[in-house]
Amino acid sequence: MAAPLRIGFVGAGFIAGFHLESLQAVRDVEVRAVFSPGGAAGFLEAAARLGVASAAGVEALDSAEALAAHDEVDAIWICARNDTRVEVIEALERGCARRKAPLLGIACEKPLARNVAEAEAVCAAMDRIHAATGAHGAYLEDMLFAPGLARGKEVLWRRGAGVAGRPYLARASEEHAGPHSEWFWRPEIAGGGALVDMMCHSIEAARWLLTEPGAPRASLRPIAVSGSVANLKWVHEPYASQLKARFGGDLDWAANPSEDFARATITWRVESGPDAGREVLSETSSSWCYVGAGLRHEFQLLGPEYALDIDMSRTGVEVFFSRAVQGSVGEDLVEKQNAEQGLMPISPDEAAHYGYVGENRAFSRAFAAGRSPEPGFAAGLEVTRLLMATYLSASEGRVVDPFEAAVGSLRPFDPAG
Ligand SMILES: NC(=O)c1ccc[n+]([C@@H]2O[C@H](COP(=O)([O-])OP(=O)(O)OC[C@H]3O[C@@H](n4cnc5c(N)ncnc54)[C@H](O)[C@@H]3O)[C@@H](O)[C@H]2O)c1
Repeated sequence: MAAPLRIGFVGAGFIAGFHLESLQAVRDVEVRAVFSPGGAAGFLEAAARLGVASAAGVEALDSAEALAAHDEVDAIWICARNDTRVEVIEALERGCARRKAPLLGIACEKPLARNVAEAEAVCAAMDRIHAATGAHGAYLEDMLFAPGLARGKEVLWRRGAGVAGRPYLARASEEHAGPHSEWFWRPEIAGGGALVDMMCHSIEAARWLLTEPGAPRASLRPIAVSGSVANLKWVHEPYASQLKARFGGDLDWAANPSEDFARATITWRVESGPDAGREVLSETSSSWCYVGAGLRHEFQLLGPEYALDIDMSRTGVEVFFSRAVQGSVGEDLVEKQNAEQGLMPISPDEAAHYGYVGENRAFSRAFAAGRSPEPGFAAGLEVTRLLMATYLSASEGRVVDPFEAAVGSLRPFDPAG
């Protein structure tokens, strides 16, 4: 039996909990340590309950540097707030310098950073860590590992594109009723709203669906971005006051909003293969103002003689509770659940359905084998660039070249920017 890959977590909140759940279905991994300034009690309890803690237990450490310096941590998953990416990776770099055995890998949650400059700093630090230790970087985009998308892409490209030609339009949308933690509603911390929080998933998933299986990501180059953003719900009453009451303190989204709705159309140029020079499109939308049973989470991939349709909210399992059944408010049926009565979908295994199992299996195996995983940090940088190009397009009302200088220097919602 292979020695398990011992993982350390930075951050112990909502997404770290999802990763713990998923690790139950991943072989040869265990959780060895965690650093979370907001506390890790729930994380430690869950790791023990789910049976994913290492035999030596899960140590709660007091810094990201100490986590990276810990010689019984082989790989690190970054699951902290968006504004901490640069400080965290630089702390990991310092910790790596104190290790006896090299670190094998660092996986970072989406978004890779709040803007292009920060994403470049994160990539540069990862490059230095790789040069010094050999550790590889992975960008945690779970949608690329969702079984429905992976299977749909494989069948459509093999049977459809193989006969009739490549797909030319991908649509992806991810919409829900708004995030759970207060910091997401502070644009200066999160770096933006629904656009930064959710369109990172949709853009990367759409790009990946349009990319021929086995072809490198550089085989599609984004050349034009047209976007718009809006505040449709949460700046208006009674919702602005509801948000204030929910989080207390000085949060005032109505006075300091980013956006609760965004959409982008991206033109991609095929760079290699028989279709080199052709243009294909992605259309994506993200929202924090969708109220349905749970998430609205849809994908389409369209070509000349075929179509792929995926509705992630249709799991094939539903329950019904009459008005006499009044349970407590929760998220125990589906993520971002909005009701406890009536006809409700259930996801039998959300960690697998959304791709967390698949991504953690792929990344832990790559790290253990010393291989570079895909997607890596460069993918996160490209996605960040496209998010910034969408902001620029929305603010200037024009189609934007994602590689123009103004995209690279944009720091939306940065008080110092
Ligand atoms: N892949 C997905 O679908 C998905 C879903 C949710 C969140 N995320 C991403 O995961 C990250 C965390 O989101 P969440 O929903 O778990 O948030 P959360 O509010 O539930 O947890 C945030 C965590 O960050 C930690 N933290 C805060 N400041 C820190 C610092 N300076 N150094 C280290 N840790 C710090 C807190 O202790 C806390 O454990 C975000 O970047 C978010 O975008 C990804």
